[in-house]
Amino acid sequence: MKGVVLAGGTGSRLRPLTNIINKHLLPVGELPMIQYAIEKLCKAGIQDILLITGKQSAGLYLEYLGSGETFGVRLTYKLQEYAGGIAQALALAEEFVWSGEKFVVLLGDNLFEDSLTPMIDAFEKQDEGAMVILKKVADPRRYGVAKMRDGSIERIEEKPEHPSSSYAVTGIYLYDSTVFDIIKKQTPSKRGEMEITDVNNVYADAGKLTHGFFTGWWIDAGTHESLFQATLFVRKEDR
Ligand code: DAU
Repeated sequence: MKGVVLAGGTGSRLRPLTNIINKHLLPVGELPMIQYAIEKLCKAGIQDILLITGKQSAGLYLEYLGSGETFGVRLTYKLQEYAGGIAQALALAEEFVWSGEKFVVLLGDNLFEDSLTPMIDAFEKQDEGAMVILKKVADPRRYGVAKMRDGSIERIEEKPEHPSSSYAVTGIYLYDSTVFDIIKKQTPSKRGEMEITDVNNVYADAGKLTHGFFTGWWIDAGTHESLFQATLFVRKEDR
């Protein structure tokens, strides 16, 4: 299976730090944030990785990660010209993923404790569709939230004011290659972005969206508070 890491976007919730550097190059403990995603994929046996970044700091990614050889992976790079949303960034992976091939997507600002191996193994056995990973959180309103019915995801609501469960949809997604056709039919949301939640809801409506759970810690390091928290988590963890 191949991996795709998304590291574009504006990082607006981390200003002024992100005025000078892309969010995923900010330090988390001893390493730049992006390295955790690369290492997680590598440890799960995924070596062919596409890294999608914006123009900001693009050269620094090359400088730090290079071909990926030092990190035990093979890196391909793609540029997202403007921050048009997670699904718009993901669309850029179409040429990297072969038709009929399954792949895993990581949002570069998501850090987590669990191994990806069990999710990848389960998805390999799934004939078609997509899989998301859920985590029970205290304040789900910051995330995509899974509305559950009879143990399955009925629908995902993006940053709902009144969440229907406490299960956040984390930024780890597994897809079959039909995801690219789904994105092509999509239109931008009210905030002008191509939403990954809309993509996942197409799978949910077709009864093809499965899920797993994180049991260890998970953090979306996209705010000052959560970036600080992420540093505390990784310091405790033995990578
Ligand atoms: O962290 C999990 C959450 O991530 C999910 O629960 C939400 O459903 C999902 O929409 C997303 O929400 P965020 O508001 O946290 O997304 P954000 O705009 O911060 O972008 C997340 C990552 O995607 C970040 O690492 C950068 C990348 N990205 C984002 C955009 C908008 C891109 O590569 N390109 C983009 O255009």
